[in-house]
Amino acid sequence: MTTVTFAAASAKSHKLWGGRFAGGPAPAFDALNNSIGIDFRLWPFDVQLSKAWAMALYKANVLTLDECREIERGLDAVSARLDAGEQPGEGDEDVHTLIDRLLHSEVGDVASKLHTGRSRNDQVATATRLWSMEAANRLDAAVRALQQVMIDQAHGLETALMPSYTHMQRAIPVSGAHWMLSHFWPLERDRVRLRASQRSAGVLPLGSGAVAGCAYPISRVLLQGSLGFGAVTQNSIDAVSDRDFVAELLFASTMIGTHLSRFAEDLIIYGSSEFGFVQFGDSFTSGSSMMPQKRNPDALELARGSAARMLGNLTTLLATLKGLPSSYNKDLQDDKRVLFDAVDTLLLVLPAVAGALAECEFKPQRMKAALSSTMMATDLADYLVRKGATFREAHGAVGRLVRQSEEEKSELHTLPLSAFTAAHVLFEQDVFDALSAHASVEHREVEGGTGPVSVRAQIESAQKAL
Ligand code: ARG
Repeated sequence: MTTVTFAAASAKSHKLWGGRFAGGPAPAFDALNNSIGIDFRLWPFDVQLSKAWAMALYKANVLTLDECREIERGLDAVSARLDAGEQPGEGDEDVHTLIDRLLHSEVGDVASKLHTGRSRNDQVATATRLWSMEAANRLDAAVRALQQVMIDQAHGLETALMPSYTHMQRAIPVSGAHWMLSHFWPLERDRVRLRASQRSAGVLPLGSGAVAGCAYPISRVLLQGSLGFGAVTQNSIDAVSDRDFVAELLFASTMIGTHLSRFAEDLIIYGSSEFGFVQFGDSFTSGSSMMPQKRNPDALELARGSAARMLGNLTTLLATLKGLPSSYNKDLQDDKRVLFDAVDTLLLVLPAVAGALAECEFKPQRMKAALSSTMMATDLADYLVRKGATFREAHGAVGRLVRQSEEEKSELHTLPLSAFTAAHVLFEQDVFDALSAHASVEHREVEGGTGPVSVRAQIESAQKAL
């Protein structure tokens, strides 16, 4: 009954290895090696895959039905204890060791049979994939919630005209809704990337053992089905070290972070007194300890800042992978550090950005006031083209008019008709209609353009996408 010592074992002495070692690990090694502080959250998935593994061992005649039932019952009890808040002990190396220790304390000796044919290498890969598949769903829901707020705000901005900018210079008038939804579609692409990384995660490594494959006739297809994977891995050496799905989820997260950062940057600029297009609310901003008048868009700034850490997480993982020899190496333990941090960060940032946006009050008057007739220079060139000029010729004529109005420190609409007719013979009295921002927008009814009908259709297809 040597394993009875296991059943009574405390976290201090419970190890999944050690037979070949004369002495115990140094405290300084444990401090570096133990990953329980990071991977503890994998416990629901480790319990789930362990139950499936017990069933697979029974079907392979490694466990009797009674033993399988006993282990399943024990795992349920372990799950209940962890659910109730039981914390890891000081000596628990990682989540797999923790669950093994707790299982021994629940069912005794028979727990020692569960690890037959499996390794923590295929175990951790499986648990991390299960976690990632769920994380992709949580991220998707949080992205969708933000997208819905964007659509809600877009409804109120359909008729609000504002400048669009290129190079941060006033370009051409657009509908406020068109600007708002320019931040919706990047997130829609992000959701496609999330689904793709979820599919990559959905390939089952369990059954690969430490590296060469399990030596017992377990059915990997049954494991795949019972754990909800879409396929099984085809090579055990690859399976225990494949972290492509982590890289993909990190990339998808980093893109989301990047998109949120750019959106936050727009809002921060538009919320400055100089722009005044938007007023921030009270719940996602903070004040200054010194300047009583301040209301700072902290949530948006933190969103912008968080993107930097996500990018760091992605590069950390890629740098880790690039130097590894084939199969499992302990460097891979740190994959979870960056993965969890990226997902945790996004799950904080996304609702904060959604909340900050929801309480934004847009100021159509200030947006309109930022428009100037000189922004209709392109429309003026198009006016000449419609009357028969070539675009190059029209561009030159309008350019001269812009220079003239600039010299006179005014805007295009203040020039007299004679200035227009002098610049090009095709200009007539109706030129002043072409200088209206509304006319400019109404001309742009191409799909994806800022024309009112196009924007309405865009809002509808955005809503349909959700
Ligand atoms: N905690 C380890 C990890 O996260 C589990 C795998 C350990 N494998 C090993 N051969 N020591 O990667």
